[in-house]
Amino acid sequence: MILTRRRVLGAALLLPLEGLAQTCGRVTPRQTEGPFFKTDSPRRVSLLEGSSQGARLVLVGQVLSPQCRPVANALLDFWHSDEAGDYDNRGFRYRGHQYTDAQGRYRLETIVPAQYPGRTRHIHVKAQAPGRKVLTTQLYFPNDPANARDFLYRPELAMKLAKRGEGSFDFVVDA
Ligand SMILES: [Fe+2]
Repeated sequence: MILTRRRVLGAALLLPLEGLAQTCGRVTPRQTEGPFFKTDSPRRVSLLEGSSQGARLVLVGQVLSPQCRPVANALLDFWHSDEAGDYDNRGFRYRGHQYTDAQGRYRLETIVPAQYPGRTRHIHVKAQAPGRKVLTTQLYFPNDPANARDFLYRPELAMKLAKRGEGSFDFVVDA
C-alpha cells in the first residue's frame, strides 16, 4: 500500500520536470528585422572601434537546438544603433557576424546602444544553424524603464545581466 502511494507521488513529481524540458526546447521568439539590416557585415567578435564612446557590453551565450543540444558553427549576425541612437547605413559600425564554437558558444564585445525615438534599447540579431532557417529577433536590456512602453519588447528576449556591462542570452533555433 505504501509502495503504491509512493509510485503515485513519484509520477506526480515528474510532471513539473517534463514542463521544464519543454521550456528548454522553445524556439526563441522571432521579431521584425526593422529597416536597418544590411547584408555582408564583417566577420568579427568585437564591434568596438577606436571612436567607441558608449558603455562597454560583453554579451555571451550559446546557440541551442530545440532538443537543447549546442549548435556548432551557427551564424550570429548582430547590428545595433550607435552612441547617438543612429544606425550606420553607409558603413558597418556596430555591425558584425560570427560563428559559434564547437560547444555552440559565442561572445560579442560592443557598446550598450543608445535609445532612439519610439524604441527601448535593443540589439538586432539573426541566428542560423548551418543550412537551416534564419531566425531574426531582437534582444533587450532587463529593467530598462522604456521596456514597458515599447511595442515590441518581450521579457523572453531580455538578456540576463550578471553585472554592469556583462550580459548573457541563449538562442534556441531550428537545427
Ligand atoms: Fe532597431
